[in-house]
Amino acid sequence: MNFPTYRPRRMRANAVTREFVRETTLSAKDFIYPLFVKPGTGCKDAISSMPDVFQYSIDMLEAEMEELRSLGIQAVILFGLPEHKDECGSEAYDDNGIVQQAIREIKRCCPEMYVITDVCLCEYTSHGHCGKLDENGYVLNDPTLELLAAEALSHARAGADMVAPSDMMDGRIGAIREALDDNGFTNLPIMAYSAKYASGYYGPFRDAADSAPAFGDRKAYQMDPANSNEALREVALDIEEGADMVMVKPALAYLDIMRRVADEFEFPLVAYNVSGEYAMVKAAAQNGWIDEERVVLESLLCMKRAGAKMIITYHAKDAARWLSAR
Ligand code: PBG
Ligand code: ZN
Repeated sequence: MNFPTYRPRRMRANAVTREFVRETTLSAKDFIYPLFVKPGTGCKDAISSMPDVFQYSIDMLEAEMEELRSLGIQAVILFGLPEHKDECGSEAYDDNGIVQQAIREIKRCCPEMYVITDVCLCEYTSHGHCGKLDENGYVLNDPTLELLAAEALSHARAGADMVAPSDMMDGRIGAIREALDDNGFTNLPIMAYSAKYASGYYGPFRDAADSAPAFGDRKAYQMDPANSNEALREVALDIEEGADMVMVKPALAYLDIMRRVADEFEFPLVAYNVSGEYAMVKAAAQNGWIDEERVVLESLLCMKRAGAKMIITYHAKDAARWLSAR
């Protein structure tokens, strides 16, 4: 590059010219809002490590849909806290499970809301792991695929618009695609948690979803934070198996992975701005140490700049409010 007279600051001097040269934009339509649903009535229960995020009983969803709609948020992703947990996570694939009930309720009161469901077993198993265990506590891959496919299919039958497997078993996108296709859900898309890392940033989520593993960790199935080339292989496999969107998770410490995936595949990419990222910002903001609005909007914009098309974020409602006031 040889532009001897180029002075980048000339275009930075004025808000209008800054807008002229802006490469990335942020809108409420980019956001997917996570919702935790639980049994009971009249519950809108706080989560101590995630200020302003709640666990809702089914009867409280209608008011929440009103709020999301008024903010221009078009999509949610559901996580369930079941009535009962067992070894095989049976409520995950029960047509009357908590997520299945929530899907039906949202579709009743707000049919235009786009409903994505997290497909995993950790919220439903008594041991808190994302699949079926052998006698040594190892998560069995292929037996778990059957349960995940049953769960995705049950969500589809309840009226979900998209399913999002987050378990990190090998071959799960193919197994779920086949189950959906065989049962008349050929047009139901899959959002794959493709490059999902074994991360300390999921801590607050495990309080919110009551899904911490009872022993050990998830390093035998989620990715090693040290790896980047492997993320490309994971994404390639998921696309080959039939994924319609791919994800990198967490977001902020993994923007390099997002950029590589975006460049390599030019495929719809989702960023998951996870619970620990949310909690850090909230804690600093509550202490008056950072300007929450600035930091949140900047972080979300940077995820898009890194290549994400959509962002799953607990900040969605605040961010939508701030954006509309601009
Ligand atoms: C379930 C799941 C997790 C998250 C999304 N789906 C937790 C985990 O893998 O332990 C984390 C989301 C967050 O931290 O916000 N497998
Ligand atoms: Zn899981």
